[in-house]
Amino acid sequence: MLEPGEIFGQFPARPPQRQTCGSLQELQIHPRGIQLLCRQGCWSVQVLTPRLLRLRFSPSGEFLPRRSWDVALADEEWPPAFFELQESPTQVHLATSQVQLQIDRDPLRFSFRDPQGQVFCADLPAGLSWGSDDIRLVKSLHPAERIYGLGERAGLLNKRGRRYSHWTRDCWGYDAQSDNLYLAIPFALVLRPGLSYGLFLHCTHWSQFDLGQADPKQWAIEVRAPELDYYLIYGPTPALVLQTYTQLTGRTPLPPLWALGYQQCRWSYASAAQVLAVAKQFRQRQIPCDAIYLDIDYMRGYRVFTWDPRRFPEPAQLMAQLHEAGFRGVAIVDPGVKFDPEADYAVFDEGLAQDFFIRRADGHLFHGYVWPGKVLFPDFSCPEVRRWWGSWQRVLTQAGVDGIWNDMNEPALNDRPFGDGGQIVDIPPDAPQGPPEERTTHAEVHNLYGLLMARASREGLEQLNPARRPFVLTRSGFAGIQRWAAVWTGDNQSSWEHLEMSLPMLLNLGLSGVSFVGADIGGFGGNATPELFARWMQMGILYPLMRGHSALGTRPHEPWSFGLEVETICRQAIQLRYQLLPYLYSLFWESSQTGSPILRPLLYEFPDDPQTYEISDQALLG
Ligand code: NOJ
Repeated sequence: MLEPGEIFGQFPARPPQRQTCGSLQELQIHPRGIQLLCRQGCWSVQVLTPRLLRLRFSPSGEFLPRRSWDVALADEEWPPAFFELQESPTQVHLATSQVQLQIDRDPLRFSFRDPQGQVFCADLPAGLSWGSDDIRLVKSLHPAERIYGLGERAGLLNKRGRRYSHWTRDCWGYDAQSDNLYLAIPFALVLRPGLSYGLFLHCTHWSQFDLGQADPKQWAIEVRAPELDYYLIYGPTPALVLQTYTQLTGRTPLPPLWALGYQQCRWSYASAAQVLAVAKQFRQRQIPCDAIYLDIDYMRGYRVFTWDPRRFPEPAQLMAQLHEAGFRGVAIVDPGVKFDPEADYAVFDEGLAQDFFIRRADGHLFHGYVWPGKVLFPDFSCPEVRRWWGSWQRVLTQAGVDGIWNDMNEPALNDRPFGDGGQIVDIPPDAPQGPPEERTTHAEVHNLYGLLMARASREGLEQLNPARRPFVLTRSGFAGIQRWAAVWTGDNQSSWEHLEMSLPMLLNLGLSGVSFVGADIGGFGGNATPELFARWMQMGILYPLMRGHSALGTRPHEPWSFGLEVETICRQAIQLRYQLLPYLYSLFWESSQTGSPILRPLLYEFPDDPQTYEISDQALLG
């Protein structure tokens, strides 16, 4: 709105009023840390381990209650940690055996020091401020620091110099410049010679890191949430940072061995006969393969947890035939449930009767449009809904399906039926979600939709097949997704740029705690050339998740579809992958114990050598 003075050009518009915390007024000591009451608002510092501190600021002085869907280990679950406190008229010092936190009293601000006394992660003077719906904290960046992680990010390995927001979205056609992709992880790993630390922004609301775009020397952290909450993780090596970060958010459990083999997907093998024909080709041509995927066409009119009676009339027989030939079957599951009041569709009927679908703020059911047309979305932030969803997977497991592939779970939806010129939209931010005792709005749990769906899938599989290690693959997720599912990088394209980009993308996912990752080999959208396909397969044998996939309407992308020369190259490459399986399996075990990535950038092993810091096109397998 214009200010009156602006109309007459008399005085410039007033800058929006921002609040700051001012000076320290009172220090309270608690068994695990301290609380700092400021002129406005309150900081809490919790010491969880000598390397891990949690810092929270609330403008109102009240801290939010813990959520049942929290992705981080609760403060009480850490064994007691020792710290020392020293006070002077201008400063307070809190020290663990690994880090020193210096707190300036006026204005209140934090800086950290490593055991050598090097300063890192320091707030700017008056770096904290807030407005009516956001909180911002600005820290200084050291000239030598490079920044990695941030989950699923296109572009080169080092993320310094740009701005990144954290909001999951369907991003068909993404490229190196795209910001929000399918998965959001507000975790950054900062590295300079001799010093590495991690900052995990514990915020599921929309948030943003400006890593030196507005000012090359500054890191601005912004949240649209009622409080600022972050974990500071000291290394000094990336490996130690990741070890602590994954202690906090979880690690990838050891997958079934078959999931490390080559996996073949296509949108779609649209009938049982087509699936069996592909399986037969693999065996006849002696190309190793462990899994075949069923994309959306196995369902009856895209109704989740159904089988198409014409194209897949005997799913159990199909799965038995696949098993006999040494394959596993993985079926896609989308979150949108067809709005189907007329037909006899039990998933819709049950979900409606139990009020499991998300409603608008005005109480009406919220609907969007996906493959089946009009759909409703289960509220996975309710434990009851997750249990219900997980148990519906019996329709698949009883037929013998071995793994679950969660797609479109950002969630992806349109405001009109597909093909009707609609737009991709979000569930409204004010839509109520969560169980009655922790009611919130979509704004808080949007980023968790994919993670909580994957959790429902994994926990459901554990219930249905307790003797088997589950396999779940997801497109969307948030920090901690590694506990529940493997991740693939969504709809990439059949281009050299996307082949090149896949490596730094997977490396940064690994540096964000997500070690079981892969990109669609050959590229999903568009037609690979024979050479591109061969090169992609040769690189794909190094992806922790090795899956070939391609979109509807593209040329066939199976290893034999490009002629004999490419087929021979693919066979040799995939055979090499199988020779590496014992080694890979050991790496997965190591990752389950320490959180270490499987595919590692050179800087992970050589963190003191700055020559490794910008290398996006080389990697180490283990
Ligand atoms: C989008 C997914 O990213 C893609 O892998 C899948 O084939 C299509 N949805 C159809 O299910």
